[in-house]
Amino acid sequence: MEDELHRLQTEALAALESGQDPDELKVRYLGRKGRLTAILRGVKDLPVAKRPGIGQLANRLKAELEAALARAASDARGGEAAFGLDIGLPGRRGPLGRLHPITQTETDICDIFIRMGFSVVETREVELDYYCFEALNMPPDHPARDMQDTFYITEDVVLRTHTSPAQVRTMESTPPPVKIVCPGKAFRRDSDVTHTPMFHQVEGLLVDEGVSFGDLKGVLAEFVRQLFGPRTPLRFRPSFFPFTEPSAEVDIGCVVCRGKGCRVCKQTGWLEILGSGMVDPNVYGFVDYDPDVISGFAFGMGVERIAMLRYGIDDIRLFFQNDLRFLRQF
Ligand code: DAH
Repeated sequence: MEDELHRLQTEALAALESGQDPDELKVRYLGRKGRLTAILRGVKDLPVAKRPGIGQLANRLKAELEAALARAASDARGGEAAFGLDIGLPGRRGPLGRLHPITQTETDICDIFIRMGFSVVETREVELDYYCFEALNMPPDHPARDMQDTFYITEDVVLRTHTSPAQVRTMESTPPPVKIVCPGKAFRRDSDVTHTPMFHQVEGLLVDEGVSFGDLKGVLAEFVRQLFGPRTPLRFRPSFFPFTEPSAEVDIGCVVCRGKGCRVCKQTGWLEILGSGMVDPNVYGFVDYDPDVISGFAFGMGVERIAMLRYGIDDIRLFFQNDLRFLRQF
């Protein structure tokens, strides 16, 4: 009996090896009328003493043969089943990324100026005091420096508090005319629902012969119309910046209450969106431009602030928490 069992197994494995169909072999040896099945069925007729030994052997050989047949069958199907892989299934879509709302807003702002003929310039975030303050008409003890909440690296090196140093660096290395926008990060020691220590600005500069305040008004009014819509009310309000003279802040009619007065516009009906002015002649002295021949205007705006107005967001920190439920809405 034992010999017969071993013979059967050798024979079945040899048949498998020679390429016979595993499904057919399964029927022949393990099926209801299979040869191994017949032996197993006969175990109960053996003398009691022999039953356990033969029964165990027969069961072990049956399991081995079943495994070998299953392996062969799956190999015949190209190994797909062995890896749990079905190449016929449609693929799973990975999650798709998108631009951050700040990046989108920064790009939209720049695109408006690009269409008006401006080029994009980016300069460094770690900046010399000279470019951040001094060459922008803020000498070491100028009180305007107090407003800037500066992060100092050393006495002469700072994290730029605005993107205005890009103006000086560009004029220093390029003869007029200059027509640029400079997007990028700025840093100030400040943190609440409308301020974060790192934020984004877009700076603009247009310098040429015969540039007037009327050009400033025309360019910025066109910008506001394109970003906030053609019927957006707009006003220029006198202001002060050390690097422009005269200076003006640009306000738009409150996008929340449409000018009636609300919490967002502090009951004024107006929202400040950017600072601007005619470049102060003192700045030209630092870059070797002749203030008798050329003139120009500059402006600067906070990207987060514009994005908050545009999307109706009342807490700036939402932009930096990376909560996908928030980010997926843009
Ligand atoms: N640099 C100013 C700030 O960060 C913004 C600004 C105002 C830039 C007026 C300008 C300008 O170029 O003309 O607050």
